[in-house]
Amino acid sequence: MSDIRNLINITDLSVSEIDALIRTADDIIEHPDDYREACRYKKLATLFFEPSTRTRLSFTAAMMDLGGNVLGFENALNSSSTKGESVADTVRMVGCYADIIAMRHPKEGAPFVAAQKTTVPIINAGDGGHFHPTQTLTDLLTIHRKRGSLDNFTIGFCGDLMFGRTVHSLIEALLRYENITFYLISPRELRLPEYMKEKLNAAGANWKEFEKLEDAIPELDVLYMTRVQKERFFNEEDYIRLRDTYILDRAKLVPAKKDMIIMHPLPRVNEISVDVDDDPRASYFYQALCGKYIRMALILFLLGIH
Ligand code: NCD
Repeated sequence: MSDIRNLINITDLSVSEIDALIRTADDIIEHPDDYREACRYKKLATLFFEPSTRTRLSFTAAMMDLGGNVLGFENALNSSSTKGESVADTVRMVGCYADIIAMRHPKEGAPFVAAQKTTVPIINAGDGGHFHPTQTLTDLLTIHRKRGSLDNFTIGFCGDLMFGRTVHSLIEALLRYENITFYLISPRELRLPEYMKEKLNAAGANWKEFEKLEDAIPELDVLYMTRVQKERFFNEEDYIRLRDTYILDRAKLVPAKKDMIIMHPLPRVNEISVDVDDDPRASYFYQALCGKYIRMALILFLLGIH
């Protein structure tokens, strides 16, 4: 049991393991047929206690493309949690049926608790406003494929930096690479949480806060837009007031670098106008595609295959 690897936080993987996952994903993209049977007779359980489109479907497609099978639920209402079953019991029992579990839960720390209760690898597919390490792997693969390296760039995170778990995990990952500058663009109410700023400071990172996207955009190599996380707000009024603070459109892109990458974990609401989709810098749908390949690499790694 002690050699079981889980992915709860992105720092559960070393930088060299992340680099190896990126290399595997690159190889899968080049030679997909070499992997078609790699997970034959293996089962992935997807336990989604919170809504998802990309994460759950990319995990499902990843396991299918590895020749494995998928079981699970996409809605907690269809599970025994409605009868009062604890996450710990659900996961312990699912570990009897599946070889690996990807789990999303609205409570921060739920996948960590789950990992103590089962003997199969647990992947955190998003825990509340906390972390989302597989989105981070997706983001790293995207940046690596677009830029050729994960060092030496300026990234602007824009939108809901308070509740955006994809932002928290990606910052934590990038702190381990060389010479990254972080521009944090948000309304005052949605600034990056203190515990994340402490991590930036502890790593000696170069970071700066902005309220206007216009002030930051000319210097960015990567712009990471995010959705205001409605489901984490305490009242509708605040959400309505803040949701459209940043809307990226063609006009706002005029002062941006010609090779800036525009990313978004999706789903978008209004943060990126659809007229940006045809801009060669728009990388968010490519990012969604990368999500399948890196999850294939991750499943292989956690199952000890290859
Ligand atoms: C993100 C999430 O669930 O945190 N979506 C995703 O997994 N791609 C971002 C979001 O919901 O805004």
